Amino acid sequence: MTHPTPASSPVIAIDGPSASGKGTVAQLVARELGFHYLDSGALYRLLALAALKRGMALDDENGVSELAEKVAIRFENGEILLDGETVTEAIRTEACGNGASKIAALPAVRAALLDLQRSFRQAPGLVADGRDMGSVVFPDAVVKVFLTASAEIRAERRVKQLMEKGMGDSISPLQILQDIRSRDERDSARSVAPLQQCADASLLDTSALSIDAAVAAVLERYRAAC
Ligand code: C5P
Repeated sequence: MTHPTPASSPVIAIDGPSASGKGTVAQLVARELGFHYLDSGALYRLLALAALKRGMALDDENGVSELAEKVAIRFENGEILLDGETVTEAIRTEACGNGASKIAALPAVRAALLDLQRSFRQAPGLVADGRDMGSVVFPDAVVKVFLTASAEIRAERRVKQLMEKGMGDSISPLQILQDIRSRDERDSARSVAPLQQCADASLLDTSALSIDAAVAAVLERYRAAC
C-alpha cells in the first residue's frame, strides 16, 4: 500500500564517499526509527546497468537520461528489480559502480532521477543515502550527516564485503583502492552536485568507529534535532 507523501515527513540525509559504510549505517538507522530507506546510489547503478545492457555509451547524456524515464525499477522484499529482472547483486560490481559514477556526472541524468528519489519521502520518515541528499534532493532534511572514512579503510571494507559475497577471486585490493580514489576524484570534481560536505551537514568520520557507534551517533543527532 502506498502512503501519502506529506512534505513534512522528516528526512535524515547521509552523504559521503564510496564505501564509507553510509549504506549500512543508513539502513540500520531507518530500521531503528521505522523509517523508509532510499539507496540513491542504487538508482545510478541500475541506470548504468540498463545502459550497459543496451550497449549505450555512458557519456550519451540524452540517451541515458531518456532511459531513466523508460526503465522499470522496483525495490521489493530486499531485492532490486530492473525491467522485471532481479539485479540486486549485479548492480554491486565494480563495473556498475564505475559506470554509475560516469553517468552521475551528467546533469540531465541527475535531473531525470530527482522526482523518483523524492517519491521515497513517505510517512513516517526517510533515511536517504548518497552524495547530494542534503544539498540537492532533500535540502530541508532535518539531519544532514557527511559520513566518511579514509580511502585505505574504505578499500579494506570493500574488499571484505566482496569476499563475503563470494566475489573475492577476481579482485585486486590495490585496484580497489585506485578505483575508490578515482571515483572520489570524479565525484568531487564534477560540476553538478559534486561530492562535498554541505555547510549545514555534520561530519562523521567512521575510520575508527564500529557500525553500532556510527548508528548511535546519527540517532543522537536526529533526536537532538527533533
Ligand atoms: O553509493 P554508491 O557507491 O552505490 O554510488 C555509485 C555512484 O553513483 C557514486 O560513485 C556516485 O558517482 C553516484 N551517486 C551520485 N549521487 C548519489 C548517489 C550516487 O552521484 N546521490
